[in-house]
This record gives sequence, C-alpha cells and structure tokens, in this order.
Amino acid sequence: METHVTTLTDRLPLEAQLRRAANTLRQGGLVAFPTETVYGLGANALDKMAVLKIFAAKGRPADNPLIAHITDFDEVYQLTEQVDERAKKLAKAFWPGPLTMIFTRRKDVPAELSAGMDTVAVRMPSHPAARALISLAGVPVAAPSANLSGRPSPTCGRYVLEDLMGRVDEIVVGDDCKVGIESTVLSFSGKEPVILRPGAVTKEMLEQVIGPVRLHHAATESLKEGEQAASPGMKYKHYAPEAHVILVEGKGFARFVKEKLNETTAAMCFEETAEKLPKNSPVFVYASHSDEQNQGAKVFTLLRDMDKRGFTTVYCEAPEKTGVGLAVYNRLVRAAGFEVITL
Ligand code: TXA
Ligand code: MG
Repeated sequence: METHVTTLTDRLPLEAQLRRAANTLRQGGLVAFPTETVYGLGANALDKMAVLKIFAAKGRPADNPLIAHITDFDEVYQLTEQVDERAKKLAKAFWPGPLTMIFTRRKDVPAELSAGMDTVAVRMPSHPAARALISLAGVPVAAPSANLSGRPSPTCGRYVLEDLMGRVDEIVVGDDCKVGIESTVLSFSGKEPVILRPGAVTKEMLEQVIGPVRLHHAATESLKEGEQAASPGMKYKHYAPEAHVILVEGKGFARFVKEKLNETTAAMCFEETAEKLPKNSPVFVYASHSDEQNQGAKVFTLLRDMDKRGFTTVYCEAPEKTGVGLAVYNRLVRAAGFEVITL
C-alpha cells in the first residue's frame, strides 16, 4: 500500500492541511495522527470494516478493544446512551485531555470497536491537529497507539513512519507528543471507579473531583494465573524494545548497576543517579527524580533509542509509584515483562 505523508506546518491553517486525511477517514481508510499523549492510528469508529483494518495494520490481537476519540462532549452519545454523573464531572475537569472513560456501548456501535465487549472506551484529545481532524471527519475516530503491536508507543512522527509506512493510507506528522504516555483509562463498571491504566491524569487528580478511586492491581503487577483481564490490554507484554529490560526497585541503583555496564548493557535512571555513575558509562537519563512530567514524556523515546544504539540488556531504575510516576512504572514493568529486582 502506498502511504501518503502529510507534514504539518505552522504557516497554513490546520483545516486546509488535514482535509485529505479527513476524507480518507470518511471513506473508511486509516490515518495516523498526533495527539498530546502518543500518536494514534485512526479509523471511522462507526465503520466496522474500517475498524477491522486497524487490527490488521498493527498486528493487534483481535480481543483488544479500541478507544473512540471525539471533539465535543455531546458526541459521546453516539457511542453510549448513558453517561455516569461522575463521568460528567470528570469530563468537565479533564476533557479535552489524557483521560479515557469506559461506558456501556450503544447497540448500533460496531462490536468490533470494542473487540466484542459490551462497553466502549471514549476520549477527547486536546491536541489541535487531532481535534481538527476528528471534527473535519465528522465521526468518532477509533485510535490505538500508532505502533506495531507490542512495540513502544510512538511519541514522534519518525517512529510512526518506522512502524507503519506501507501499512496505512496516510500519516500526519506533527510535533513530538508533550505527554508521551497514553491516557489514563477509567472504568465505572463497579461501585468504585477503577483505573485500568494509569496516565497523566493521576489517581490524586481524579479523587479531587469524584472522591475515592481504586487502582487495578494489574497496573503494577502481572495478572494472577487464570484471572480475567478487566482491560484486555493488561494481558499483553507491551511497550517492549528488543533489548531485555529489567526493572530495579529500592535504594542503591548506582552501586548495583555500576559494575554491570558495558557495550551491550546500559542503565536507564534519574539525573541524580546518573551523576553517581562514572562519566562515559552507557546511561539513558529520564529526567530529574522530581520531574514526573518529563519522565513520562521521555520513557518511550528512551525505550526505542536503546535498540538503535545496540544495547541488549538495560537495567531501569524504578520511578515512584505515585502521581505520573505510577504511569511510568506501569509502562516499564510491562516493557520488562514483570521482571523486577528489589534491592
Ligand atoms: O492516549 C491514548 O489513549 C492513545 C491515543 C492515541 O489516544 N491511545 C491508546 O490506545 O493508547 P491503545 O489501543 O494503545 O490502548 C487502549 C487501552 C488498551 O489497554 C485496551 O485494552 C483498553 O484501553 N480498552 C479499550 N476499550 C476498553 C474497554 N471497553 N474496556 C476495557 N479496556 C478497554
Ligand atoms: Mg497501545
């Protein structure tokens, strides 16, 4: 398949640059586009055949449901008949932005969008190009992260081109993603809302608006033998570079890793820890220990970089499991296939 690439510029109105991509979506094609979290691979969420093409292009397991993206709150009613009062409050506080909420799926919404589940995930992105594209397309847009299934989510256009060139109709290349990790996924199916995937809208932020929220245990540990996944995305090894990733928790990371570093073995750690390691050691630095925003913005970029630079083993210093740090921890523990060393 020939892939058309549109590189966005500030010199022209977004609408003019995105008209072709919006037409492609309306005609059932696939378009990758930037959002504030990670790049998404879009299709008309109400067109079953278009939705199925996403699974084929990504090599995505057929049982892993997609998120539908909208630009105006009222569009949520094209996907669900009923919106929980708590969800309305959260939409007011955090939409547009990196929060996905799960509702009961309307019967006329293709089951393929939700991989057969009777629920549907909805998000309103804040990125101007994503908003313009969805609005021009005039339909909710299904969009998983625009990577080949299993690979780290793409935080810049270059990574989307690497994974999807020749597999989709169009790639819209914009700026690098500011948030850098995927949206928080929140479910209302039980009595207490549950975070199925932590993200930049943190547990603490959600609780300020609606009171107690539970974090699903699979956010930080693997599912138990025989346990059914509340969110199918929990089941899969995810976000993984080719390199063997090992997550290291507890105090003394620099001391632990110092003797292990060489041409094939690298460390990924905070700025403060990197300063304790010999100069010229192979080290990938997330950000300062206290700068969670930048840890999130850099984690996927670093996971891709380590393969490019030929490392086969990487020890990662675990971030704090609070705030956005929890979301970064969640991505790393999956990249590590739950291999964790506690010092
Ligand atoms: O930030 C994001 O959410 C990005 C951008 C492109 O918007 N999208 C994204 O999509 O991360 P994806 O497909 O890579 O991740 C969607 C996650 C998966 O873990 C999936 O299992 C879960 O959301 N999910 C989707 N629909 C669900 C549903 N009905 N019930 C439970 N989990 C669901
Ligand atoms: Mg993904």
